[in-house]
Amino acid sequence: MSLSTQPYKGARDFYPPEKRVQKYLFSVMRKVAESYGYEEYDAPIIEPIDIYLAKSSNEIVNEQTYAFDDRGGRKVTLRPEMTPTVSRMVAAQRQELAYPLRWYSIPNLWRYERPQRGRLREHWQLNVDIFGVTGLQAELEIIELANKLLLCYKATPDMYVIRINSRKLVEYILKDYFKFESDTVLKCIRLIDRKNKIENDEFKNLLVELTGEEKSVELQSVLEAVSLDSLPEDIKQHSSVNEVKDLLSLLARNGVENATFDITLMRGFDYYTDIVFEVFDNHPDNPRAMFGGGRYDGLVGLFGAEPVASVGFGMGDVTLLDFLIVHDLLPPVHSETDAYVVLVNEINDQTQQVITSLRDAGLNVAVDLSTRSVDSQLKTAIKKGIDFVVFIGAEEISSGQFTLKNLLTREETKASVADIVTTIKNNAQKQ
Ligand code: HAM
Repeated sequence: MSLSTQPYKGARDFYPPEKRVQKYLFSVMRKVAESYGYEEYDAPIIEPIDIYLAKSSNEIVNEQTYAFDDRGGRKVTLRPEMTPTVSRMVAAQRQELAYPLRWYSIPNLWRYERPQRGRLREHWQLNVDIFGVTGLQAELEIIELANKLLLCYKATPDMYVIRINSRKLVEYILKDYFKFESDTVLKCIRLIDRKNKIENDEFKNLLVELTGEEKSVELQSVLEAVSLDSLPEDIKQHSSVNEVKDLLSLLARNGVENATFDITLMRGFDYYTDIVFEVFDNHPDNPRAMFGGGRYDGLVGLFGAEPVASVGFGMGDVTLLDFLIVHDLLPPVHSETDAYVVLVNEINDQTQQVITSLRDAGLNVAVDLSTRSVDSQLKTAIKKGIDFVVFIGAEEISSGQFTLKNLLTREETKASVADIVTTIKNNAQKQ
């Protein structure tokens, strides 16, 4: 029996073409995050399970972690998310770090989910977090950055919507307005979080079970509010309503016009304390959030440090790629190799010198070492998706003039080493 060539279920192999696409996605993430002054950090993929137990999400910890005991008997897991990790790191150097702290990372995360469109077991997630800012300017910057990211992938605002809610508002409604016990409040938040994933009737029945017939009807009507203004008068007086209003108007004044209030947006994690938000793809084929985030002021404090105001988001590579594909936004990604050298005669020191000077001038150059016919070597360059071929043989070496072929336009010219470098560099600039 031969071994399977398939990668682990729900995880992907990245052959060079897919890796190239991933590099493109990550390069835009890095460029945009750094343009706002965010610094890249990283951490181990294995964490003690404890850091997720206190305030993550029940579903993730109980059903989705890749948890195991290591050989020393420690309870550990592959990280399912980055927020507890980054909070642990901030707590460890709480006093030394310079605030506001702006950090980003692109970790791979593991969740034991049922693999399906938009959901895998391993995904990469851009995490952008700001620490040490208590006011709405932090939410503004984080959401503006998320929006900028999509614009840099050439998206237009009609392709997605940014939904915003306030955990404080939801908690006020459940705890003070409806007077539910804290256990019921938590269960309601988790149920509302699943509202769009389950059938309407199932949602209604579960809500009745949790809150009783009468209150469930009233709560449902509150959850149907389409705007802040359509909330019941008593609820509208709460300070969090003004906060959401202020954030929406700040965003609009800063060019983010597709943000809306959505009272049903809960975010599944227990650590969020205030504003939460998600970015949704508007395309019917991708009915999922691409980004999710919010304020989580209490997490750093769980590690024994003085609490730090924290706001951030995570954006997954899988949903982003689905978004770029359905909206036809994925640009052609070229090979990292600028030129492929086809050897007309056997390789010798003089040929090597030419190749070295091409590399020294900054080109990425691969050489065909197969000793096959010129035609087969050329076919290999085409198959590899390399844009240029340089033919080198005894005649070319003695004249100093090489045949340069652009495989995209099929154009062929005679060129010196310097000309080859200029032509290829000019071409790269145009792309
Ligand atoms: P999250 O909503 O669990 O938040 O994930 C954020 C994004 O990661 C999702 O919107 C989705 O794009 C992607 N994602 C999550 N799970 C999967 C999966 N199984 N397969 C593919 N993509 C997935 C968090 O993880 C928070 N820790 C984000 C955060 C950072 N909050 C504050 N800072």
